[in-house]
Amino acid sequence: MKYAIIGAGKIGSALARRFVASGIEVFVANTKGPGSLAGLAGELGALMKPVTSEEALQADAVILAIPFDAVPEAVKGVDWGGRIVIDATNAIDFPAFTPRDLKGRLSTQIVADAVPGARVVKAFNTLLATHLGADPVVLGGRRVLFVSGDDAPARRAVVDLIEHLGFAAVDLGALAEGGRAQQFGGGVAAKEFVLLDDRQLR
Ligand SMILES: NC(=O)c1ccc[n+]([C@@H]2O[C@H](COP(=O)([O-])OP(=O)(O)OC[C@H]3O[C@@H](n4cnc5c(N)ncnc54)[C@H](OP(=O)(O)O)[C@@H]3O)[C@@H](O)[C@H]2O)c1
Repeated sequence: MKYAIIGAGKIGSALARRFVASGIEVFVANTKGPGSLAGLAGELGALMKPVTSEEALQADAVILAIPFDAVPEAVKGVDWGGRIVIDATNAIDFPAFTPRDLKGRLSTQIVADAVPGARVVKAFNTLLATHLGADPVVLGGRRVLFVSGDDAPARRAVVDLIEHLGFAAVDLGALAEGGRAQQFGGGVAAKEFVLLDDRQLR
């Protein structure tokens, strides 16, 4: 499975750090081009591969870690053919830092419209970048990441990835319910949950 991250800012670089720490190769792109990622690549090592956006967009699973408004332009004209797109974006009005008024639509439904033919899963959007990039093992448990989307096998693949990265994954089901809870302004957004080792609960 080839993984790529579009965006190398706070969220993209935090995620790249977790991929490398887990021994998983990851391709990373930004707008400035692969040369601008030499510093991050030097820090993270050979498992992090700086590439162009064109190359990153051909991966089996493409993580969107860019501003919500940048998505349509960033993914324009790509043939998805059932590949997985993981939406880590949040639709936020700045500087008020309030949820964007999407006229009743869900932010990931809007992202899905921009990637026709892709299997879209929402994930990696609920933790602060500083926490996403840090060791997922805290307080004797694992930080929780949530997953939602309308394609169950794609959700399963992302759950497996999240567990492989060392986090605990919680599958919230279809976008209509899970995506609403997960998007900015929803019940689990911008909150940190830790799944304690169940031995501590006995
Ligand atoms: N920061 C957080 O704690 C946090 C938490 C959860 C979710 N999020 C969400 O995650 C997303 C990214 O946030 P961030 O804080 O990481 O932003 P950021 O630090 O500003 O980084 C944005 C990145 O996106 C890249 N980019 C923008 N347009 C692009 C395009 N068309 N093609 C390729 N790369 C493009 C930028 O590349 P250049 O620098 O080369 O222009 C930059 O690397 C946002 O949707 C945000 O709401 C953020």
